[in-house]
Amino acid sequence: MDNIGIKRINDIVKSTLSVIEESKGAIFDISESARREVFNLKKELQYLKAEATSIINECQKLELKVIKSRKRLAEINRNFDKYSEEEMKQAYDEANELMLELAVCREREKYTISRRNDVERRLKSAIETVGKAEKLVAQVGTVLNYLSGDLQKLDEHFENAESKRLIAIRIIKAQENERRRIAREIHDGPAQAMSNVVLKAEICEKMAGIDMQKTIDELRSLKDVVRSCLKDVRRVIYDLRPMSIDDLGLKITLQKYLESYSNEHSISVDLKIKGNDSRIKDSNISLAIFRVVQETLNNIYKHANATFASIQLECAEKSILLRIKDDGEGFDINSLHDISRDADGGFGIIGMKERIELLEGEFRISSEMNVGTTVMVKLPYEIQGGII
Ligand SMILES: Nc1ncnc2c1ncn2[C@@H]1O[C@H](COP(=O)(O)OP(=O)(O)OP(=O)(O)O)[C@@H](O)[C@H]1O
Ligand SMILES: [Mg+2]
Repeated sequence: MDNIGIKRINDIVKSTLSVIEESKGAIFDISESARREVFNLKKELQYLKAEATSIINECQKLELKVIKSRKRLAEINRNFDKYSEEEMKQAYDEANELMLELAVCREREKYTISRRNDVERRLKSAIETVGKAEKLVAQVGTVLNYLSGDLQKLDEHFENAESKRLIAIRIIKAQENERRRIAREIHDGPAQAMSNVVLKAEICEKMAGIDMQKTIDELRSLKDVVRSCLKDVRRVIYDLRPMSIDDLGLKITLQKYLESYSNEHSISVDLKIKGNDSRIKDSNISLAIFRVVQETLNNIYKHANATFASIQLECAEKSILLRIKDDGEGFDINSLHDISRDADGGFGIIGMKERIELLEGEFRISSEMNVGTTVMVKLPYEIQGGII
């Protein structure tokens, strides 16, 4: 997956999470307002219950009064001659008034009870809403945690896959560069020398019967060409993999390499080994150290214009420390090419860094103009699951 793909997934993940977060907020608001409603309804219900009780009492009292007034009216009607007109009218009026009061009271009773029932129903449903909303908030919370954890993992997964892909591309590029370099070396060295050998052999063939001395001279020069060709082939093989590293170990391989380097380039190199180098048993590690020395010394020859270089290899308690220093003209570290942007740039330094980091080590380079350049490497003695 490319960077754009990862960015899109990240955006989708983020917007999904924010939508869920918003929904959680909205459900929380609903639950809060339902809780407020429950509180208010409970208060209203309390008031309505008290009100209903008092109205029911009032109605009962009025009913008794009405019965009493009706009895009195019946009594007056039966014995109308015993009562004055005034008394009869008063009894009628009183009975009417009480009945009216009772009717009004019953209306109020009916109204209050229906309001009480209504509030009771609303309270029940508000309590249900609070319960549901609380459950939902909890569920959404769980989903949110699950998703954010899980999507985070997805994100990490893609990032890991992406960095693995970049490393794989770099390894392939490094292999291709190395193959191109070897092809060029074989083409310029041994392949040319061989065609020279064929030419010289043909001359010998033609001269053999005519001029013996010339033939012998030509055969001698042919021997020189073959010898130098052999040297070239050995160097190419050595560059591919210094076999002595497996047979003789790192220390002797380095010493032999430095000897021929100093002779070839007239740069004197001092090698100091501290601690017990036979502790380095993993050939991936020895080879990585050798390659760093090789590339760094190549750079010193190609770019530093130095007269002296020092190499210190320290086999410490937990790790191997390598430091290579030159007294050359130095360079601006910031000008180093980024291999992911510029595939044609120098690959030496970035290649060394990649290799060391793949072996779970650390690579650092520092340089000061007119003072020199220092390369520092820290490596473990062993790596988990060797890659190179
Ligand atoms: N010891 C040094 N002294 C001065 N400049 C250096 C030194 N080492 C590296 N450099 C500078 O850093 C640049 C990058 O080095 P690097 O080894 O990555 O690439 P390169 O040597 O140019 O090419 P390659 O190693 O792929 O053949 C060099 O071109 C050079 O300018
Ligand atoms: Mg280089």
